[in-house]
Amino acid sequence: MTLLRRIALGLAGTAALAATVTLHTTAPTTAADKKAPDKAAVERTREQIAMLDDLYKTAVVGITQLYVNQQADKPAALAAKAVFDAMKKKGWHNARLVDASGDPKNDENVAKTDFEKKAVKAMKDGKKSLEEIGEVDGKPVLRTATLVPAVLKSCAKCHGVEEGAVLGTIVYELPIK
Ligand code: HEC
Repeated sequence: MTLLRRIALGLAGTAALAATVTLHTTAPTTAADKKAPDKAAVERTREQIAMLDDLYKTAVVGITQLYVNQQADKPAALAAKAVFDAMKKKGWHNARLVDASGDPKNDENVAKTDFEKKAVKAMKDGKKSLEEIGEVDGKPVLRTATLVPAVLKSCAKCHGVEEGAVLGTIVYELPIK
């Protein structure tokens, strides 16, 4: 929470700065848009992400337990990625499975954005999640990354790591409304 508060303060600072600048220029004010998002709205978004995280992870682990018996089988990650794509296309939210092992099964899963890179570092450093408030097209978003460890023997075996090792992170980005 301290991180969030720091980010929120940072945003408030930016808004204050924008307000100051506007006083001295004739440019139309944008201070209102830059205001730190409403705390209650952030909390609602945080809860939505926590719910999605439970849902996706329960599904992936369940699929793996029920259907994945050998290396040659299609991994549950593919099903998860298909759902993430569908949710994005339908305009609900962005979620991405990102590698934190340093030895991804698919290079497409390597961290790309600044936040994804920060998230991978955080997971490697033993954190369970990372959060930031960002902006997309001038609108506030909440980004949260959560830990994906090799929770089952089969995850570990197929990925060639020890059971419990950090495999990756799911990075969510939801609009704060
Ligand atoms: C049968 C082999 C297999 C099993 C079992 C398996 N995975 Fe994977 N996993 C893969 C493959 C293949 C990919 C790459 C999918 C893609 O993006 O094309 C992948 C991708 C991933 C990624 C993204 C990083 C990367 O390596 O590309 C994570 C994180 C991950 N799996 C976690 C898990 C977890 C957690 C479990 C157990 C619940 C698990 N996997 C079980 C084969 C497996």
